[in-house]
Amino acid sequence: MRIDIITVMPELLESPFRHSILRRANEKGLLEVHLHQLKDFGLGKHKQVDDYQYGGGAGLVMMIEPMSACIEFLKSNHTYDEIIYMTPDGTTLNQSTANELSLSENLLIICGHYKGIDERIRDKYITREISIGDYVLSGGELAAAVLVDSIGRLIPGVLNDGTSALTDSFQDDLLAPPVYTRPSEFDGMKVPDILLSGNDGKIEEWRYQKAIERTKKRRPDLLNRN
Ligand code: ADE
Repeated sequence: MRIDIITVMPELLESPFRHSILRRANEKGLLEVHLHQLKDFGLGKHKQVDDYQYGGGAGLVMMIEPMSACIEFLKSNHTYDEIIYMTPDGTTLNQSTANELSLSENLLIICGHYKGIDERIRDKYITREISIGDYVLSGGELAAAVLVDSIGRLIPGVLNDGTSALTDSFQDDLLAPPVYTRPSEFDGMKVPDILLSGNDGKIEEWRYQKAIERTKKRRPDLLNRN
């Protein structure tokens, strides 16, 4: 998969993609992330990318010309499955959106700043608008990092344990059950006997029951979704 990201702050995104699972995905040739500095397409000597909003009001708006030039440049080289705008007024990201997007070949993600982007960019180019939650970040970059992480780890072969992405919380609308590792006892706190029993069937059943218990307690809305 190839993901292009348009941003005025590529530095904010360099680190997450140089580390963690995303770096491994890159090294395995499964995911390429390319950052594009919008200012390279900025207007005039100062490479301007934002301006005052028509109608007045505080805050700058990202201009259509630089963004359009950057998008057109990328589109002339790639065919995108989706052109995504990260915005708090988009559809809230969830596991099923991440699953769906992980099947894409080429994605283009646009990070907004200031008051947002000129509405005509949205009208002309954007095929999907995604929020990572009901709060406002100072730019779309951190949201884009969250989105790319959630997608990248689902690409087959990215995680070493082929099944582990499938047993994540939310993958079946259940939260994940508790997990333990060595030692089997710490400060009098013991790992549940069943996990040490070697009985795979019983362990599976226990995990399922714990997942249901936890979901009922913490996120009952997930159980009533379908
Ligand atoms: N940009 C600013 N806030 C955001 C949010 N909550 N989700 C996605 N993009 C954003």
